[in-house]
Amino acid sequence: MSNMNNESRILCKELQSKIMSAEQAAALVSSGVNVGMSGFTGSGYPKAVPLALAKRIEAANKDGQKFRIGVWTGASTAPELDGALAKADGVEMRLPYQSDPTCRKRINAGEMEYLDIHLSHVAQFVWFGFLGKLDIALVEVTGILEDGRLIPSSSVGNNKTWLDQADKVILEVNSWQNPRMEGMHDIYYGTHLPPHRQPIPLVRPQDRIGDLYLHCDPAKVIAVVETNSPDRNAPFAAPDENSTLIAGHILEFFEHEVKRGRLPKELLPLQSGVGNIANAVMQGLNHGPFENLTAYTEVVQDGMLEMIRSGKLVMTSATAFSLSDAALAELNANIELYRERIILRPQEISNHPEVIRRLGVIAMNGMIEADIYGNVNSTHVMGSSIMNGIGGSGDFARNAYISIFMTPSQAKHGKISCIVPMASHVDHTEHDVQILVTEQGLADLRGLSPNQRAKVIIENCAHPNFKPALLDYHKRAFECSYGKHTPHLLDEALSWHQRYLTDGYM
Ligand code: COA
Repeated sequence: MSNMNNESRILCKELQSKIMSAEQAAALVSSGVNVGMSGFTGSGYPKAVPLALAKRIEAANKDGQKFRIGVWTGASTAPELDGALAKADGVEMRLPYQSDPTCRKRINAGEMEYLDIHLSHVAQFVWFGFLGKLDIALVEVTGILEDGRLIPSSSVGNNKTWLDQADKVILEVNSWQNPRMEGMHDIYYGTHLPPHRQPIPLVRPQDRIGDLYLHCDPAKVIAVVETNSPDRNAPFAAPDENSTLIAGHILEFFEHEVKRGRLPKELLPLQSGVGNIANAVMQGLNHGPFENLTAYTEVVQDGMLEMIRSGKLVMTSATAFSLSDAALAELNANIELYRERIILRPQEISNHPEVIRRLGVIAMNGMIEADIYGNVNSTHVMGSSIMNGIGGSGDFARNAYISIFMTPSQAKHGKISCIVPMASHVDHTEHDVQILVTEQGLADLRGLSPNQRAKVIIENCAHPNFKPALLDYHKRAFECSYGKHTPHLLDEALSWHQRYLTDGYM
């Protein structure tokens, strides 16, 4: 471990000579380039250069130039990155995930291209050359060692790939990040391309298979910018009634599975999506009967930190933090404990299909809607308007031991049912969904045919206000559909969504 402290975060002499302002660094980025930026769910993203770049782009666009770049990241970032660049109309292509309101608006207005892809695919698509040339890596780090190795920040994401693949590198060294995070990361450098691929040598969530540091050829570094800025740490709402009920159904299900001998008493490694419901499930588990739990997940949220503190969760593997300010203070106050219990990995490893299948991960993710046959829409409203993106949900759902999707049964104050006849967009097919949960109850779809699934989903998950209409639909579809295996009245199923428009929710 290094002697990193707040006095000197940049120990490499060669890189000390490349320190400059964010504006000077932004001036090195020209229109038309693809920039691989760090950042995952509001942690570890570059804080200064994207803002300076947005200013530059705004000025250029005012002058009638069309200054735009490709923005590739780990996942969602923050207003200083996605928000600022989208506001400046400076993004030609955004990938692989966003959750920013300004970005979303531009994408849905057809003003910005967006490639929404599985998070585990991004790195290998870049290695394969599927996404074109990566020109610049813009990566936040916690510090730089004498020999140029980099201490990663609060997210790892695609940083290894960006640093490897880009011609030029801009580093932001953020002294706000806790230097004692050093040692928490595990950067796997053993990947080969097909046909020479080898198994990923990870058989337990706690296995370390890589290096503590990111590697980067100092000769490629064109700028080093010093920052001292916080991550976007968003508070979590206290679990509301729906989230608490959903968490309760999931806990009951786990107890049932343990009793039936289908899950060990310490369960299997947990994956938990982002958001308040996922956080509520973790809080439920923290007060539940299970001990010695592990997690193999994407993001460490407040709930997981609490479970580590209480001893319920003995090990967590992820690619990023996504914490409230209070949880961050707790992390910093007890960093030695958390460093023993948390490993941050590149996202192609945290979300690796081979590893998820091997470990038998229990996947729990949010959704926008599910249809009566178990197809899940995680991304689109009215089949056409993007919310966020598929993120890691497909990586986990497709390969999990059990794949669970959860949502309140209704959206928009009861105007919209989240259980619908036919999903307006499908991210996870009926083949990848085993359990659906709403505050109404849990539908166990394992071993059921489409018609059997429809009955269980409507009965257990739909809100009473929408149950009669859904039952009526399924009955009439069974009577009149061209085929009886997955019965549909196509005109009617699709027009179910029309009321979004008539009720003015678009
Ligand atoms: N129809 C229309 N809008 C709906 C809807 C539906 N059936 N269901 C939810 N929404 C809207 C909500 O009203 C809310 O909109 P608002 O922000 O304007 O109020 C928004 O979608 C988010 O819903 P919310 O109930 O707050 O749930 P959430 O924060 O748990 O998010 C997803 C749900 C699906 C958007 C979110 O889980 C997601 O982006 N998932 C895909 C990525 C993923 O699973 N990542 C984790 C993998 S590791």
